[in-house]
Amino acid sequence: MKPKILVTREVFDDVLEYLAGHFEVGANQADTPMDPPTLARRLADKAGVLTTLVDRVDADLLAGCPRLKAVCNIAVGFNNIDVAACTRAGVMVTNTPGVLDDSTADFTWALILATARRVVEADAHLRRGAWKGWHLKQFLGLDVHHATLGILGFGRIGRKVARRALGFEMPVLYHSRRRAEPEVARALNASFVSKEELLARADILSLHVPYTPATHHLIGRAELALMKPGAILINAARGGVVDDAALVAALAEGRLAGAGLDVFENEPALNPALIGLPNVVLTPHIASSSAATRHAMAMLAARNLVAALTTGNPPNLLNPKSTCA
Ligand code: GLV
Repeated sequence: MKPKILVTREVFDDVLEYLAGHFEVGANQADTPMDPPTLARRLADKAGVLTTLVDRVDADLLAGCPRLKAVCNIAVGFNNIDVAACTRAGVMVTNTPGVLDDSTADFTWALILATARRVVEADAHLRRGAWKGWHLKQFLGLDVHHATLGILGFGRIGRKVARRALGFEMPVLYHSRRRAEPEVARALNASFVSKEELLARADILSLHVPYTPATHHLIGRAELALMKPGAILINAARGGVVDDAALVAALAEGRLAGAGLDVFENEPALNPALIGLPNVVLTPHIASSSAATRHAMAMLAARNLVAALTTGNPPNLLNPKSTCA
C-alpha cells in the first residue's frame, strides 16, 4: 500500500501526478485554505505533507499526527514550522532553497525601481484621468543609479540583489551575521558595515533575512530613526521583520521617501494606514512568483517528500537529527 500524503493547497497538475506515482495523495486543488482544525483532521492519518507558508505546523498539530514523518514546505522560509517540535517528534522538515533566488532578486528590483521612480503612483495618476500634460517637476523620484544600496542579510538572495546592482553602478553596503568571503564581496562591489552604518548610509535599504525571534522587528522605530532621511525601504523577505506601525509613522512624517513591500505583519491583513500612503508600493507576497519558479518550488518540495519517505534523506533536510528520533 502506498503511503498517504496531503498537499494542503493547489499545486501544478504534473506535481500532483509525480506525487501520485509514489503516494496516495489527498489534494486540495479547490485551494480552500485549511484552518488549523481542518489541517489537523486531514493530516491525522498521513505520513507526509506538502505545506505552504501559510500552514502552521506546531507541537499541537503534531500531537494529532502520529504517522507523520515529513513536512515539506513549498518555500525557502520556514517560520510557519516549529522545526524543534518536528525534530522532537521525529518529523523531517524540508524547504526549497536555491530555486527562487533569481526570481526573488528580480522582484526586489521591481520594487526598488517602482518605489524610487514612483511608477505605481504615476500609473494611478493616468488611470484616474489626472494627467494634464508634461511638466518639469512631475513625479520627481530618487535616482537608483549610483545610489548606495544597503542589504541587510547577505545570503543567497541578498547576494543576487547585489549582483544586479552592478548594472546600476551602485556601491553596495551589507550587514549580515556572517561576512562574505573577500572574493565574493569584491566581485559584488560590496562592503561589510555595522548595522548602524548600514542604516545611516543606505539610500535604498533592502531586507533579506529570514523571520526568526531574533529578526522580529529588526527594523523598528529606533532603526527607522537611524535611516538616512529620504531613503527607501524594501522588504521582500518576511512580514514581522519590519514593525509596520513604526514604518507607517516614518513614511507619514516624510522621514523616508518611500517603501516597497511584498510582505506584511499578519498577512493577508495589512496595516490599513499603508493603503493611504502614496509613497508605498504594495504587492501580495509574490516575489518568487514567476511561473517557472513557483513550479520549480512545488516540484522541489515534492521531490523532497518522495526522498524523505523513501530514503529518509531528502536533499533539503533542515533537521538531520529528526531522522534519529
Ligand atoms: C517565500 O516567501 C518563500 O519563503 O519561499
